Parts: sequence; structure tokens; C-alpha cells
Amino acid sequence: MLRPRYCFCILCAALAAALAVVLANMSPPSARAADQPGTKAPAAKAPAAKAPAGPVSFINDVAPILKESCFGCHGAKNPKGKLDMTRYTSLRHGGTKDDPIADGKPDDSYIIDVLTATGKKRMPPIDSGEALPKDKINLISRWIKEGAKLDANIKKDADLLRELRVRWQPPAPLAAYPFPVTITALAFTPDNKKLVVGGHHELNVFDPSTGKLEKRIRTRARRAMAMVFLPDGKLAVAGGRPGEEGDVRIYNIDGGKPTKVEAGVTYLDGVSDPGVMVKQLLDADDEVLCLALSADGKKLASGGCDRMVTVFDLSAGYDKVTTEASIENHADWVFSVAFSADGKQLYTSSRDKTAKVWDLATKESVLTFSAHQNTVYGVAVKADGKAGYSVGEDNQLRMWNTTGNNAGKPIRNVGAHGKAVLKLVAVPKKPMLITCSADGTVKVWNDNLGAVRSLTGFTDHVYAVAASPDGNLVAGGAFNGEVRVWNLADGKLVKDFNASPGLKVAAAPKK
Ligand code: HEC
Repeated sequence: MLRPRYCFCILCAALAAALAVVLANMSPPSARAADQPGTKAPAAKAPAAKAPAGPVSFINDVAPILKESCFGCHGAKNPKGKLDMTRYTSLRHGGTKDDPIADGKPDDSYIIDVLTATGKKRMPPIDSGEALPKDKINLISRWIKEGAKLDANIKKDADLLRELRVRWQPPAPLAAYPFPVTITALAFTPDNKKLVVGGHHELNVFDPSTGKLEKRIRTRARRAMAMVFLPDGKLAVAGGRPGEEGDVRIYNIDGGKPTKVEAGVTYLDGVSDPGVMVKQLLDADDEVLCLALSADGKKLASGGCDRMVTVFDLSAGYDKVTTEASIENHADWVFSVAFSADGKQLYTSSRDKTAKVWDLATKESVLTFSAHQNTVYGVAVKADGKAGYSVGEDNQLRMWNTTGNNAGKPIRNVGAHGKAVLKLVAVPKKPMLITCSADGTVKVWNDNLGAVRSLTGFTDHVYAVAASPDGNLVAGGAFNGEVRVWNLADGKLVKDFNASPGLKVAAAPKK
């Protein structure tokens, strides 16, 4: 999802500079192209290490440095030099060499040797980036000098990524957004009357007929990447913080105790009110990008940046959710999941340029569809289970066989959009599909890929699209916070609004 959309005129440069100042001062949300799935953020200049006044803490001071600069190569899977730094025990065990740390003696510690080396021995390796800044090396030295101890409240073999994660606290909610929020997920409520839109560390509930904001539900996740309502009316949300953590949580958007009601907006706390955040199903090391519910409402599937596909069995209730399958077979991020009508198969798509079909009984892949030859952002299944649909970076909507000798063979494809097709949604109760694209349009298709209608008016990339459960309304959400709601039957615009609460500044100018 590259976004070659920036203009280099003086006005835009000035605005960009002004925006940069605003963002720098505001602890910004994800309103940056580089933050979107599909583009890895360029390595940001890391903040200087704060030297603690008291003893250096391993988990608070040292581990964040190792995570930032070393875990990429010295992680739990295939660590370089056989040195896994993601647990205190494995760090102290050493790799091909001994323990790189000599308690109390930084000068005798191999880790300090490699950090301060100037030649080939230097870590991180010279060809992979800058040396650690002096203040960080000094901090690690001081920790070693003070005895290289692990903090008392942590188990020696604890996963440090997890320990760092649980120490992180979501920021206080923004009263008014100083920037437009990028909409990466939205969903209609089961009664078709409200629209839940992902915000910055929150879920915002709007009346789609008026655009009025009615409820703000604070969340730990920085952004919601996918939402699906469960049969009992609770909302499953997947998301997280890019590169930091991922989650699937279940919210009761009508539960808990409001923290306040102000100007007609009800505020709920989905971080610590157990009446609102009912259950966490998944805790991952990176963002969870997609969700799907089986037709019988008993199974929920997720997939994400850690390449994992997880299927939860919800049939025994939230207290007894079990993981039915954990499938790790895509070579890259999993962007979408969809169940076959009978719930026996799961369709997935990935940045590894394939869509796959899984037999959930054997947990084996039964089909791989590779025609996109580029990132596949969305999959859907034909109601009769005989065909799959997929969309991707190649701008195409493709339909392919899933049964018999022709399984995996293309049926037809359409150049659906002028740019990458970012989402694909099957319309409930109707043999129709909806796509949205970086070209700023939302399109409706019949189940043979005949064009039904093109819904326009967005001025930015459309990242999210949803149909109401009764199949009558379509809503799209864009990079610049715009939401547009249409009647599916005649394509008439019902309402458009910006879903960034309290946004005052105008959205970025269009070229
Ligand atoms: C881009 C990948 C990369 C990064 C990032 C990286 N390392 Fe390494 N590291 C390596 C490789 C490759 C080796 C093996 C070198 C060898 O065997 O000659 C290694 C080996 C080591 C060893 C020796 C392990 C042993 O027992 O053989 C230490 C200690 C080490 N690295 C420390 C660090 C620290 C500390 C950081 C972070 C500041 C870091 N590395 C970041 C690639 C990396």
C-alpha cells in the first residue's frame, strides 16, 4: 500500500511542517502512511535513554534498548549467533559463545565489547545500522556494574516482550483530535442503526443517518483493524499497536458504567471496566489485522502481522473459549479471513501474495491461489462454497474455483479499481460483494463479478468498508477520517461525516 500521493509545492511543504510540529507535540496516532499495513514505518530516531537516578532496572531501562536494537536478530526464532535475548535466562545462557555478561564487570563483558567495537565485531552489525548511542551503552554498562540483576518481580525465563507489553499503559483519551484519524475498521450494530468506527485508542459510535457521535469507548489498542458483532450483540475487535502488540477483545458497547456523559456523548472505559471489555481472546506480539465469524456464530477466526491464523471456539461461552486451531503457514502478514458457509473451511489472504483455503478438521491447506502475484488484501467465499473471491495490490477482483479438478483455477477477474483494492466484504443476505480501494471509491459487485454500482465522493484512500446486517446500507471509511454511508439499493448517499471527534483543523489539502 504505497501512497505516492504527496505533493511537493511550497504550500504543502509548509502545511507538512506545521503538521509535523503538531504531531511531535501531540503523541500522534497512526495518521501516517508509513503506519499502515503494507508499508513498514521507516526506523524512527529513538529517544535518548533516560538515565535513572537510582539503580538501573533491567526491565524498565535495559530491556527496551535490547528490544529496539537487538531483538530483531536475537529473537526467540532462529537467533543470530544462537543468542536469544528475549528472556533473561537465554540472554545469560549466551549463544555460540558464553554468557556475554560478567556480573559487576562491564569491562569484562562481551556485550560491551561488541557494542563499543568499531570493526566487524560491532553490534548491531555495521551493515545493518548505527552503533548504539553512548548514553545507551553507558546505561547497559551501569546495569552490569550494579550486578546485572533482573528485577525482583519478574521470573527469570519470562518472555521479555510480554513483560514490556504489560507495563505499557494506553494514553489518556484525546478530548478533541488535532488530526484526522485513519479509519481502518467500521461495523454496523446488529439492529442496523448505529455505526462503530475505529478511532485513536477508542471505538466511536455514530448515528449513520445523522453523523452524530453518540459514544466513545476507550481501548488499549491504538487502532481497530477489524470488527465483527457476535450473535449476543457483543463486538469482537482486532487491532493493537504496530510492531508492539496485537489483540482480539470482546466489548459490550452497551455495558459497564459510563465515565461521563458530555454534550450528548457517553464515555465508556474499555480499558479497565470489565462490564465494557468483557474478554480478551488473544494477546500477540504484533497487530491483529482481520476477523471473521462463522455463519453459525460459534467460531471466530483472526489473522495478523505475526502470520498466525487463530480459530476460537465460542460455543461454550466467553469463560470457556478454546483455541480450535493455530495455523502458521502464510509467509507474511495475514490480511483477511473468511469462513465457508458450513464453517468447515477457512479462507485466508496474505502479504505473501497468496490466498489459501484451509480444511479446519485437518488444519491443512487444501488450496493456494497465487494469481494476484502481489499482496492479497481480502478474501470472500461464494454462498454455495464453489468459488472464492480475492482482491489485492494488483487492483483486481478475482474469482476462482474451490472444488473439483479445477480447484484453485481462475474463473474470471475484473480490473475492479484504479488502485490497490484494500478490502472485500460479502453483503449479508444478498449475493453481492463490496470492495474499497486506494482509488477513493467503494464498489458493489454481483457474485459473478458484474459491476452493480460505484460509490464515489471520498477524497482519500478508502481503507474500510462494511455492510449493515440487513444488507441495506454500505459504509466506507477513509485515510482522512471521512465516513460515507449509502443505500445499497439505489446508491444514494445517506450521510457523510468525519469520524475524528472534535476535529478542528481542516483535513490535509488534496492535490
Ligand atoms: C542485523 C542483525 C543483528 C542485530 C540487529 C544484532 N545482532 Fe548481534 N549478532 C548478529 C550475528 C549475525 C551474530 C553472529 C556473529 C558471529 O557469530 O560472528 C551476532 C552475535 C552477537 C553476540 C555474540 C553471541 C554469541 O554467543 O556468539 C552478541 C553478544 C550480540 N550479537 C549482541 C548484540 C546486541 C547487544 C545487539 C543489539 C544492540 C545485537 N547483537 C544486534 C546479528 C545481529
